[in-house]
Amino acid sequence: MAGRDAAKAARLGGVRADVGDPAGFGRTLDGLGDVAAAVMCVEPPDGAAARACLERGTGLVDVGATRRLLDDVAGLHPLAAASGATAVLSVGVAPGLTNLLARRAHEDVGGAERIDLTVLLGSGERHGADAVRWTVDHLAAPPAAGPLRTALPGFGSRTAYAFPFSDQYTLPRTLGTPRVATRLCLDSRPLTAALFGLRRAARRPAVRRALNAAFRRIHLGGDGFAVRADAHRGSRHCAYALTGRAQSRVTGLVAAHVTAELLGGALPAGVHHIEELPVFARLPESLAEHGVTLHRPAPGGGSLRG
Ligand SMILES: NC(=O)c1ccc[n+]([C@@H]2O[C@H](COP(=O)([O-])OP(=O)(O)OC[C@H]3O[C@@H](n4cnc5c(N)ncnc54)[C@H](OP(=O)(O)O)[C@@H]3O)[C@@H](O)[C@H]2O)c1
Repeated sequence: MAGRDAAKAARLGGVRADVGDPAGFGRTLDGLGDVAAAVMCVEPPDGAAARACLERGTGLVDVGATRRLLDDVAGLHPLAAASGATAVLSVGVAPGLTNLLARRAHEDVGGAERIDLTVLLGSGERHGADAVRWTVDHLAAPPAAGPLRTALPGFGSRTAYAFPFSDQYTLPRTLGTPRVATRLCLDSRPLTAALFGLRRAARRPAVRRALNAAFRRIHLGGDGFAVRADAHRGSRHCAYALTGRAQSRVTGLVAAHVTAELLGGALPAGVHHIEELPVFARLPESLAEHGVTLHRPAPGGGSLRG
């Protein structure tokens, strides 16, 4: 375990490390000796901390969800291949499980022309400070697609709104699907309406500060989550969904699973998104013992709006 707070890290048997200071982060790695893998659980400013790992031959598991940062790390593929290190990107729920469901639905329709991903998060869950910051920071991004009304197992029919999760930018490259869109809603319908009603206002830093503070205090709703992937090819349509509780915990479980596989030494060197590694194809099933359920929703349940 590592973080900027030396006392907290020491209490958990870890060390002080700051991914915002790549030179210092490199010295920390050197001081620890032969580090097999680093699990990046916070978004650094750029790909420099990932470079510090890969040039030392240290493996990397990254839960980040920002397109620009994942693209930076993907650009380190030749470096990782040369040093023999493996990096796995798109680890978590979204991106992560969404990428894996998308791949499955894509294969079932024989190569999707369009994929729609829907993410429902529990507004009652205590999301971490960095995850809340990430969500609020991305709220003002111009929507890349219209809203989608779709059925989410256990949550009924929901309207979800375009949100810049990285999966929709990765999958066109890894699957060759030209149109991919990811949309977000919360389990609380009023909070979903309030959140997306504030899209324009969220361009102002003061509004983002207020939203950050509000989301850390308001816990309306439960801790359940759902993700759904719909793949379309002509008249063919295939959908998969996953439901569970506490997406932060499930992100940690996915990261633990990927790290165990990486430490097993059987993953190829280089930088890969999770859906590019066949060993993770059945990962959704392996989460059943942690209360994550795989569903096959009836196709035809989604309608594009607006
Ligand atoms: N892929 C997915 O499905 C998924 C799901 C949930 C979250 N996420 C991503 O996961 C990340 C973490 O979210 P979270 O909710 O766990 O956040 P969090 O509760 O704020 O935790 C962030 C952790 O990183 C440490 N940290 C912060 N800045 C650091 C730095 N510069 N150098 C080293 N350590 C630092 C913090 O400890 P110190 O304060 O001691 O440094 C803390 O332990 C976010 O980027 C979020 O977007 C991804």
